[in-house]
Amino acid sequence: MTLAKLDVSNVRNIASASIAPSPRLNFIVGPNGSGKTSLLEAIHILGRARSFRSTQAGLVIRLQQDELTVTGRVRDGPGLEPIPLGVRLGRRKREIALAGARLQTSAELIRAFPVLLIQPASSGLLEGAPKARRQFLDWGTFHLDGGFLDNWRGYARALSQRNALLRSGTGRGIDIWNHELSRYGTIVNYARACYVERLRPYFHAAAGHFLGEGPFDLHTTAGWDTEKPLQESLRAELAQDLRDGYTHSGPHKGDFQVQAAGRSAKNYLSRGQMKLLVFALLLAQAQLLEESLGARGCVLIDDLASELDSGNRGKLLEFLTLRQAQFFITATDPCILEPAGLAETAVFQVEKGRVTRV
Ligand SMILES: Nc1ncnc2c1ncn2[C@@H]1O[C@H](COP(=O)(O)OP(=O)(O)O)[C@@H](O)[C@H]1O
Ligand SMILES: [Mg+2]
Repeated sequence: MTLAKLDVSNVRNIASASIAPSPRLNFIVGPNGSGKTSLLEAIHILGRARSFRSTQAGLVIRLQQDELTVTGRVRDGPGLEPIPLGVRLGRRKREIALAGARLQTSAELIRAFPVLLIQPASSGLLEGAPKARRQFLDWGTFHLDGGFLDNWRGYARALSQRNALLRSGTGRGIDIWNHELSRYGTIVNYARACYVERLRPYFHAAAGHFLGEGPFDLHTTAGWDTEKPLQESLRAELAQDLRDGYTHSGPHKGDFQVQAAGRSAKNYLSRGQMKLLVFALLLAQAQLLEESLGARGCVLIDDLASELDSGNRGKLLEFLTLRQAQFFITATDPCILEPAGLAETAVFQVEKGRVTRV
């Protein structure tokens, strides 16, 4: 899916903007504070029904306004009829529309328009808390495995029921939740593991492109001792779970790490190399999506220059020209585009919240 048309209203300092992006490379240039990240934020809202900078819509809505609107048209492939979609966020309400129908949840929207983001904060993906890594796995698994969402929801429901029971202090009747948790948890873990198997070759190629000699590898952990069924861990840990008031084992504790030459990358590589690994992971995710669904994703890269030095920017552009996905890349300095001279490239200038095609 590529974004063929985008209309933004009242997102941060952008009162109104309307663009027809290139299906391949889009560069967004402008001085600091002009609204470049806000434009990416708008595209992210269109694909995920939420901002990446704030969980409070009120902060994203332009000052003195009650709501923001982002609408667009996405195309599945050249020559196909574009599908309209849109998101409207107020301080306490959210409306999502896809192909003329109103949606209750964001799942179908997310499926219809897969948006991936690489921003300065992404470099924490491998070094920060595991939650972001689980979200990375789950987003990828969700797009490739049609049944994943139901199982994930089943797991989340069972986990919250079991935790409520633990907090009530008795643990009576917990067996049914152990069983549910184990049933869904095993499926969720298996689906994530399958996803990582599919991601691995793309990650190897991308990591090799940016970092040269590896060997780099992805190593996942399930969140429990998989030598035994999850249900056994849940039973064995009941006393501890009751004491702490939450469930210690399960896919909600799952994680992955990158290993370099057999060691955990974060204890071995430089910060700069870690950033490149995160680029490699996210670009591998986009490429897997592209090649397995035949659906091109849309990748947002914020503040390219602060992320990569000029040598690595060159490598990135080289990598991007070989992909089919649609990219939106922001930068303060238009000279980062110089090595480009690329086909199917659009450049947008942002100035005080106004967006114009150059
Ligand atoms: N809710 C809001 N309403 C209006 N302007 C805002 C709001 N939130 C932030 N801004 C302003 O929007 C401008 C653009 O921010 P941003 O998109 O981050 O700029 P850039 O990425 O180009 O450096 C900033 O000057 C910021 O102060
Ligand atoms: Mg910015």
